[in-house]
Amino acid sequence: MGIVLIWSLVLILMRWISHKRRGAISYDSEDQTALYIRMLDVRVRSQVGFEPERRGSHPYLYVDFRTLHSRPEAARPVSARNVRRLLSFQRYLHSSRFFHGIPANNPLGYILDDDFTGQAKLMLQKVGNWNFDIFLFDRLTNGNSLVNLTFHLFNTYGLIELFQLDMVKLRRFLVMIQEDYHCQNPYHNAVHAADVTQAMYCYLQEPKLAETLTSCDLLLGLLAAATHDLDHPGVNQPFLIKTDHYLAALYKNSSVLENHHWKSAVGLLRESDLLSHLPTEDRLNMEERLGSLILATDISRQNDYLSEFRTHLDKGDLCLTNGGHRHFILQMALKCADICNPCRPWKLSKQWSEKVTEEFFHQGDIERKHNLEVTPLCDRQSNSVANIQIGFMAYVVEPLFVEWSRFSDTRLSQTMMSHLSLNKQGWNEGRDKQEASSSRASEEQRTPATKDSNSKVLPQGSKGS
Ligand SMILES: *[C@@H]1O[C@H](CO)[C@@H](O)[C@H](O)[C@H]1NC(C)=O
Ligand SMILES: *[C@@H]1O[C@H](CO)[C@@H](O)[C@H](O)[C@H]1NC(C)=O
Ligand SMILES: [Zn+2]
Repeated sequence: MGIVLIWSLVLILMRWISHKRRGAISYDSEDQTALYIRMLDVRVRSQVGFEPERRGSHPYLYVDFRTLHSRPEAARPVSARNVRRLLSFQRYLHSSRFFHGIPANNPLGYILDDDFTGQAKLMLQKVGNWNFDIFLFDRLTNGNSLVNLTFHLFNTYGLIELFQLDMVKLRRFLVMIQEDYHCQNPYHNAVHAADVTQAMYCYLQEPKLAETLTSCDLLLGLLAAATHDLDHPGVNQPFLIKTDHYLAALYKNSSVLENHHWKSAVGLLRESDLLSHLPTEDRLNMEERLGSLILATDISRQNDYLSEFRTHLDKGDLCLTNGGHRHFILQMALKCADICNPCRPWKLSKQWSEKVTEEFFHQGDIERKHNLEVTPLCDRQSNSVANIQIGFMAYVVEPLFVEWSRFSDTRLSQTMMSHLSLNKQGWNEGRDKQEASSSRASEEQRTPATKDSNSKVLPQGSKGS
C-alpha cells in the first residue's frame, strides 16, 4: 500500500512538473479521469483492503464524477498554496479550486472589497433569521459561506475556548471541508452545507434545545450539519449501486453516501488534528456520534426515525436531560435542516428546487447516455420541477415538519409550516398553468400559433417573511 501511495505521489508531482514547464497547468478531463482512477485505488486499498479488480463491469462509468457537472473552463495558474496541497491526495483531486478556480458564477471574481466584507458581517448579525439569504451571503464572502458561517457560529457559542480549539487548525479544517464539496454539483455543494448549517443553528436556538443541549451537543450538531454531504458525487445511491461504484461495495449497498460523508468527515478531522488534544476516548465517541447524526440524513430511512419520533411525542416521554434523547433530537433537527428548503421563503425555496432538479435531470441524462434505466425522478422527459417538489413536500417534508412542530411548537415552526403551504400552492398553480398552456399549445398546433404566455410563477402572498 505504501508503495502505491508513493508511486501515485511521484506520478502526480512529475505530471505537475512537466505541465509547469510548459506553462500554466491545465488538466483536461482525461488527465483528471486517469488521476482519479489511481486515487480510487489508493483510497480503496488504504481504507479496507477492497480489491479494485472486483469492481465490476462498469469500471469507467463512475470515474467521470469529477467532471459530471462541470463546464469546460479556462486553465488557471496554480498558487503556491495549491502546490502544497498536492501532498493531500484526496483534496488534490476533489479541490474544486485546483481544477476550476473560483466558481465561475461568482460575479465578484477575486475582488473582495471592504464594502462586501462589511455587508457579510452585517448579515451575520442576523444569522438566526429564518429568511437568511445564504446565496447572497455566499456571494458576499466570495464563495466562502461554509467556512465563514461555521467559524462564526463556533465563535458565537464560545466553542473555540470551551474545547480549546486552535483557530488556525479550525480554519484549515473548515477550508478542507468546503473544498471537499464539489462546486460543480448544482445542488449538493458547499452552499447547501452552509444552508443546512444555518438552519441547524436556528433549530439549536429553539428554547427546548437551547435550554438543554451541552456544548458537546452544539459542537456535534454544527459539525454534522457542515459535513453531512461531504464529497457528494452528485448522483444518488441507486445510481452508485447500478454502476458498481466502489463505494456501494464498500458500504454493502446501505446508506452508501451517508457512510461516505461520515468517513470523509472523520478523515478530515483526524488529518487536521483539530481534536487531537482531547482524550482518545472522547474523540472516538465524538466520531461515532457524528456518524450517527450524518446517517440519520438518509432519506430512505426516514420512516424509522419518524415513527420513533411519533411514539415519543405520543407518550410524551422525551426527557432532554437524558443524553440519548438529546442525541435523538439532534438527529431529527439535522434531518429537518437537511430538507427544509420547501419551508423557506419562496424566493429562496424556488432556487433550491431548481438546483436540485438540475442535478436529478443531469443524472437522468447520464443514465440515458449509458443505456441504464432512467430513474423516474431524474427523467426530464417525463418530470418537472413542480411535480418533483409537490411529491417531495407531500411525502417527505410535510410528515417530518408536522412532527417537528409538535415537538417544538414555536413561532419558527409556524413560519416554516406557513411557507411550506404557500410554496406548495405556488408549485400547484405553476403546474396547473403549465398544463393549461400545454393543452392550449396542442390545440393551437392546428391553427396558426398565437403568442405563448410564459408567465413567471409566483405563489400568492409569499412576499412577507
Ligand atoms: C468572513 O467573511 C468576512 C467578510 O468577507 C471576513 O471579514 C471574515 O474574516 C471572514 N471570516 C472567516 C472566519 O473566514
Ligand atoms: C449490491 O447490489 C447489487 C445490485 O443489486 C448486487 O449485485 C450486489 O451483490 C450488492 N452488494 C452487496 C454487498 O449486497
Ligand atoms: Zn444534504
